[in-house]
Formats: sequence, C-alpha cells, structure tokens
Amino acid sequence: MDEPLISASLVFRGDGTPYSPRHDDIYHSAAGALAQARHVFIEGNGLPERWRGKSCFSVIETGFGMGINFLATWAAWRNDAYRTATLDFVSIEKHPFSANDLRAAHAAIIDDRAVAPLADSLAAAWPPLEPGLHRLAFDAGAVTLTLALGDAAQLLPRLADHGVAADAIYLDGFAPAKNPDMWTPAIFASLARIARHDTTFATYTSAGSVKRALMQNGFAYRKVAGFGGKRAMLVGKRSFHGAS
Ligand SMILES: C[S@@+](CC[C@H](N)C(=O)[O-])C[C@H]1O[C@@H](n2cnc3c(N)ncnc32)[C@H](O)[C@@H]1O
Repeated sequence: MDEPLISASLVFRGDGTPYSPRHDDIYHSAAGALAQARHVFIEGNGLPERWRGKSCFSVIETGFGMGINFLATWAAWRNDAYRTATLDFVSIEKHPFSANDLRAAHAAIIDDRAVAPLADSLAAAWPPLEPGLHRLAFDAGAVTLTLALGDAAQLLPRLADHGVAADAIYLDGFAPAKNPDMWTPAIFASLARIARHDTTFATYTSAGSVKRALMQNGFAYRKVAGFGGKRAMLVGKRSFHGAS
C-alpha cells in the first residue's frame, strides 16, 4: 500500500527564493529558477541539439518541485523548429504542492512571458494529490508529463520494472547533505536501468557522494561550470563499457 502523501508548504526566504523548511534548503538558485533550469538541466544534457533527428525524446527527473525544469524544457522544445514529434517527461515528487501553491509559486518566480502560459496549463491540469502515477497531456498530446507522486526509492524501481526509458536524466533532489535519500546508490542503480545506451544526465551538485554513486552505477561524469556562483556541476552519460 502506498503511504498517504504529505504535501509541501510554500515558504519564501527573505530574498524571494522558495525554501523547504522540511529539508532546510532552497528549491532553486537565488540567481534565477528558469535560468538555472536552462544552464544546468537543458544545456547540461546537450539540449536542444540532442533531441534533433529523433522522433520522440524522454526525460526523467528526480524531484518535480514547482515544475520549473519541466516548464523550461517544454518551452525549449516548443521554441525549437527541429523538435521531436513528442516529448515525454516523467518526474518523481514525494511532497507535491497544492494547485494553489503551485500557482502562487509560479506567479512569484516565472519571469518569462513564453513560460507563463505553460505554467497556467500545468496548474489547470494539476492532479489530486494521491500517491502513484498521474499522466497529464499538453499541446494536443505531443507533450506528456507523468507525475510519479511518492518516494523516489519506491517509485524508481517500479518505473524501471515497467520499462520506462529515458534519453536524459535531471538529478534535482535537494542538496545531498540535506536530502540524502534522493542520492543513494539504489537511486542511481534504478536510473541505470532506466537509461538507454546514449542517455545523458546533469545535476547542479558536484558532491563526492554523488560522484561515487554515479561511478558505481556505470555513469561517467565530467565537472563543468556551475550556475549562479557555483564553481562546478556534473554532467555525463551512462557508459556501457563497449556495448553499442
Ligand atoms: C530542488 S527541489 C526540485 C525542484 C524542481 N525540479 C523544479 O524544477 O521546480 C527537490 C524536490 O525533491 C523532492 N524530494 C525530496 N525527497 C524526495 C524523495 N525521497 N522522493 C521524491 N521526491 C523527493 C522535494 O519535495 C522537492 O520538491
């Protein structure tokens, strides 16, 4: 039986950055949520170039939060003349916001007129906060968002068992020191099962524990320049040691 969900409460720090009292961490860089999404997760996964030439592209994310990474990816896909026919985004979230809090968070942090209407569509389609998978469709079904509500440690193996596969992985739990259950070797083992042969990943952190978990599970990483004053972040891909 899935445990009932405990929703997140919307709190802002003095500088306007959304903050989680439960994890004592911020949802996004104070230097900009959408800008961080673009630098870390979209460019970090080589997008939009990597989806060009494919008919469909799929992303899996650990930690949906306010959906800023999803909205930035959807906007980048819409804006690309060479986009795929479909974009499938799967994201896991243990403590979702209510639809009202999601709207309030978006009103406070979305600073791009192309993204604001997408945020409205997301909030209008927001599911009841019940554990399990919720499939939302946008842009006449070309874009799907599967919200997996519950604990990543339980849901990722289930998604892998069901054959979910991803072309790109967004690792976006709170900081490993504050949210260690989002960065365990078991999480990376499930992600390795979900990866295809050329799947990439990106994350804002460059913590040693994350590097070790990545390596133990067959992900090769590189350190690149981080966002918003962070010296480094990690990008890379699943390496199949000679498999084609
Ligand atoms: C940094 S925030 C994600 C921000 C988000 N990607 C966005 O674009 O707005 C991290 C998220 O991970 C979620 N989280 C923390 N522990 C979790 C767990 N064990 N399973 C699933 N989600 C978890 C938190 O509730 C939080 O929403």
